[in-house]
Amino acid sequence: MQSSEEYMQNLKQWLQDTADSQLEEMSDFFAKRLDGYEDHMSFWRESYQIFAEALPSECQKVLDLGCGTGLELDKIWQKNPNIEVTGVDLCANMLYKLLEKHQDKPLTTICQDYFQYDFGYGKWDAVISFESLHHFLPERKKELYKKIYCSLNERGVFLLGDYIACCEEEENLLRSVYLKKREQSAISKNCYVHFDIPLTLEHEKDLLQDAGFVIEKVLGGNATILIAQKQR
Ligand SMILES: C[S@@+](CC[C@H](N)C(=O)[O-])C[C@H]1O[C@@H](n2cnc3c(N)ncnc32)[C@H](O)[C@@H]1O
Repeated sequence: MQSSEEYMQNLKQWLQDTADSQLEEMSDFFAKRLDGYEDHMSFWRESYQIFAEALPSECQKVLDLGCGTGLELDKIWQKNPNIEVTGVDLCANMLYKLLEKHQDKPLTTICQDYFQYDFGYGKWDAVISFESLHHFLPERKKELYKKIYCSLNERGVFLLGDYIACCEEEENLLRSVYLKKREQSAISKNCYVHFDIPLTLEHEKDLLQDAGFVIEKVLGGNATILIAQKQR
């Protein structure tokens, strides 16, 4: 296992090596890589299983933010094929693949930005998101977490599986590189690009708690999984 010093050294080297690479628009990024996408994500295989097991068994209506081709849903439906899912994703090609894999499941797909999509009020037993939200600044996530909180029913749960920064130095470094790259390429404010800007666990928890959530559990693994409850 790498120490955080080694990890930061490797990250800095990678940022140096990729300093000239251009940022890609989010949906184009995933559409271009669709063929190898599921193989690439097999690194998180174990975390998908842990994520599915963390979903409380009484959850029936689930909203998945950035569902992609549904790797987390593959595992969730293995456990209970009757769970009704609404999957939101920007990238139509990812959603076509999800629909192709799960024609027999109670699935609705929405090709939209989850910051714009209306989640409704008191409607979902669970809102879930796996490896999608680390592409956004905390200022934006803060509003999204409040929207998620309001959209859940009284005993609802938000299950977040994501890339978490190992220390503040990582969070701050990636944020500054991200902002600099956007500025250098004059990327407009409303354009989403693919670049990882994870938060530390403490920062992520603070945002969730500010939105009203109670953090019930944090599970480790390749991806960190936070179980945030609307009520105790
Ligand atoms: C790394 S993939 C994860 C997909 C899936 N959850 C999984 O683990 O296989 C991130 C997904 O988030 C989607 N995404 C990113 N930003 C989004 C946004 N603002 N609204 C909707 N989808 C978004 C991307 O299109 C992509 O499919």
